[in-house]
Amino acid sequence: MEKILVVGAGFMGSGIAQVSAQAGYRVYLMDIETSITDRALREIRRSVEKLETKGLLREPSQAVLARISPEKDLSNGSEVDWVIEAALEDEKLKRNIFQKLDRISRPETPLATNTSSIPITRLAENTRRPERVLGLHFFGPVPLMELVEVVKGEKTSPEIFERGVAFVKSLGKTPVRVQRDIPGFVMNRIFSAAFREAVDLVDQGIVNPEEVDAGMRLGYGWNAGPFEIADNAGLDTCARVGQSMRTLGVGHLTPSSNLIERMVAEGRLGRKTGKGFYRYSPEGKRLPGEKKDNR
Ligand SMILES: NC(=O)c1ccc[n+]([C@@H]2O[C@H](COP(=O)([O-])OP(=O)(O)OC[C@H]3O[C@@H](n4cnc5c(N)ncnc54)[C@H](O)[C@@H]3O)[C@@H](O)[C@H]2O)c1
Repeated sequence: MEKILVVGAGFMGSGIAQVSAQAGYRVYLMDIETSITDRALREIRRSVEKLETKGLLREPSQAVLARISPEKDLSNGSEVDWVIEAALEDEKLKRNIFQKLDRISRPETPLATNTSSIPITRLAENTRRPERVLGLHFFGPVPLMELVEVVKGEKTSPEIFERGVAFVKSLGKTPVRVQRDIPGFVMNRIFSAAFREAVDLVDQGIVNPEEVDAGMRLGYGWNAGPFEIADNAGLDTCARVGQSMRTLGVGHLTPSSNLIERMVAEGRLGRKTGKGFYRYSPEGKRLPGEKKDNR
């Protein structure tokens, strides 16, 4: 059984761990505090039990859960066949993690990052195996979203790139091949351009978030509007990605207004705190709107 180390057990890392375990991989899920991996395992249990109830699991949920172990450090990196990093969107932090992973894991192990914006080449620079570093950019919530961008860094070898594509397919997901390493890759740049405009229009009082979301669903066939997507992703993560994109010279894709940063300062992080552009029950169900409060 192939083994995977997922670094970071937040919204994305826990989803990546879940779908990997569902696909039959043995998964080590690492974060800096036990309370975080405990929460991730609770969330994964809830999600796979729900899939089981709906008849969407190929085996008992217990078998999937038994393939995931929480980890407090990277020491299991020496045993694994794949590493996927999904820690906070912070270049310094990720560079540091890649440097450690390079020391701990076997030289042939591919090191993937789920970064939303940071060029793969910059993270690969801190390793002795830049040809084995690539982007695997999942979309959230990972158990529901089928897309994964596979991103080639300047030095990623064609063999590792194709292994990335095959790995994504083994998870039952659809890969999009990104052949050149640019900040924000492809999907995030396109989404960011729409989100920038949406945030600025709302902050100028021209429209409210609910109407933008309905408009994008009804007018353009999106499954969810930009504010629904942002609330799911976490506004703290959106703010970090925006900051990273500005630092990387693609600030034209980020909002002019600081609405997201103001909401984060008020603790309105989206679904994870029960309040963002919308309000949510403790079980994560969306509550009826309070339009005036959304600006
Ligand atoms: N949220 C999304 O929709 C989304 C989509 C695609 C990609 N991403 C990217 O995925 C990554 C994670 O995002 P997220 O939404 O899961 O964020 P999150 O805040 O939910 O989780 C990040 C986790 O990283 C952990 N962490 C911090 N330092 C660490 C370290 N040194 N070692 C291990 N773990 C550490 C944190 O404790 C936290 O649990 C980011 O790079 C983000 O840009 C996010």
